[in-house]
Amino acid sequence: MENSVIIGLQWGDEGKGKIVDLLAKDFDVFVRYGGGANAGHTVRFEDKHFALHLLPSGIIHPNKICILGNGMAIDPFSLIAEIETLKSRGVKINGNLFISEKAHLVLPHYQILERLRESGTHPLGTTGKGIGPTYEYKHSRLGLRMGDLLYEKTLKEKLKNILEPLNFLIKNYYKSEEIDLEVSYSNLLSISEKLRNYLVDTSTLINSFISFGKKILFEGAQGTLLDIDHGTYPFVTSSHCTIGGALTGSGVSHKSVKKCIGVVKAYTTRVGKGPFPTEIFPPLSDKIRNRGNEFGTTTGRPRRVGWLDLVALRYAVNINGIDEIALTKLDVLDELLDIQVCTKYRERGTEIYSLPSQWEIMEKLVPEYEVLPGWSCPTTSIKSFMELPKQAQKYIEFLEENLKVPIKMISTGPRREETIFR
Ligand code: GDP
Ligand code: IMO
Ligand code: MG
Repeated sequence: MENSVIIGLQWGDEGKGKIVDLLAKDFDVFVRYGGGANAGHTVRFEDKHFALHLLPSGIIHPNKICILGNGMAIDPFSLIAEIETLKSRGVKINGNLFISEKAHLVLPHYQILERLRESGTHPLGTTGKGIGPTYEYKHSRLGLRMGDLLYEKTLKEKLKNILEPLNFLIKNYYKSEEIDLEVSYSNLLSISEKLRNYLVDTSTLINSFISFGKKILFEGAQGTLLDIDHGTYPFVTSSHCTIGGALTGSGVSHKSVKKCIGVVKAYTTRVGKGPFPTEIFPPLSDKIRNRGNEFGTTTGRPRRVGWLDLVALRYAVNINGIDEIALTKLDVLDELLDIQVCTKYRERGTEIYSLPSQWEIMEKLVPEYEVLPGWSCPTTSIKSFMELPKQAQKYIEFLEENLKVPIKMISTGPRREETIFR
């Protein structure tokens, strides 16, 4: 298998974790390049169930190298907890995990700031993991990076530079309790020893793995419509979840990625606020949510549910240069008599085939649907495309024709074995 990137083409939770796990045997090195513990990637096999937040899904496979790239926002306390939990479940993390010195540190203060903002009048419905403020400080060039944990003296100076103005804001604007510099500093010092040995220049490391012919899988988090530039701004995350982010966030060139695999759920979900043209409502949304177990892996929030949106998917395919698609959760549609697929929008009577950049306009779009017949039978144990009910085959072919990308994997259940390869 050539070096590949896995990218979600919707609003996250497409099933990226399952697809990475499925392909893991063909790769040597797994790289997370963006986001942080806002991600929740689920892997299920046999009677096992893993929810990964910061570590790539490849970590549960023995003898694989895992890397947290420079584009990530890493909460060191969550990271240590995740490492400990996985170790206690028998996952080997010793010499196979490397973390970029340049990845940004999520400080507890950022979570406090995010909470204060989200309790105001314009919440975005974030995961509360401090992701937005971390990238904000990164881009203001005040942020702390993982490597700063190794320099005790300058760490305190840098922390002070962040905390003084932040405390002013917290105290005077949010009327909340100030954050104590000494406590924050000693908390960070208490964990820096635990992380020291993982920290390296991961860009150089990944590039040398590439030059030795190791196979790399770049594991995307979130999804294209949550990208800070290309998503439904401002109802997005704060990182680049699209192909550009994979390169910048790992420090490799465009020549390093040979294949871009888009993961698409057979319908759509989104967590948090923001426009969602194909959203559906109770009782049908409840039925799909329950059947698909659509509750956030990170926050447990019920996911909003909608029909597949081909306008948004075409946009995502183009932005990322998708070579092939992994279609997940087909089984969740098994009981539906009819399945709707949005092929275009209307805005005040005019047909629209692209995503407006203003969310206010996007919220007013009226989706136009093609209705396809359902198959009304279980698909989970089916092993080949030709054995799928004819209507399910038609549904898949309809998506391929409209997106002009082959659907090479079809997932019909959460477990590894519940997958059809074409
Ligand atoms: P990710 O963030 O893209 O990795 O996706 P999540 O793990 O947050 O959410 C996907 C959920 O769907 C997880 O609970 C998976 O176990 C589950 N899942 C993945 N593929 C399938 C599938 O084909 N069918 C069903 N029923 N569940 C699936
Ligand atoms: P995975 O990798 C689904 C959403 C949040 C919120 C918005 C901003 O599991 O697909 P943030 O905490 O990032 O500032 O929140 O982005 N969001 C996700 N939704 N899956 C994710 O990750 C998400 N990561 C962030 O719900 O709407
Ligand atoms: Mg998820």
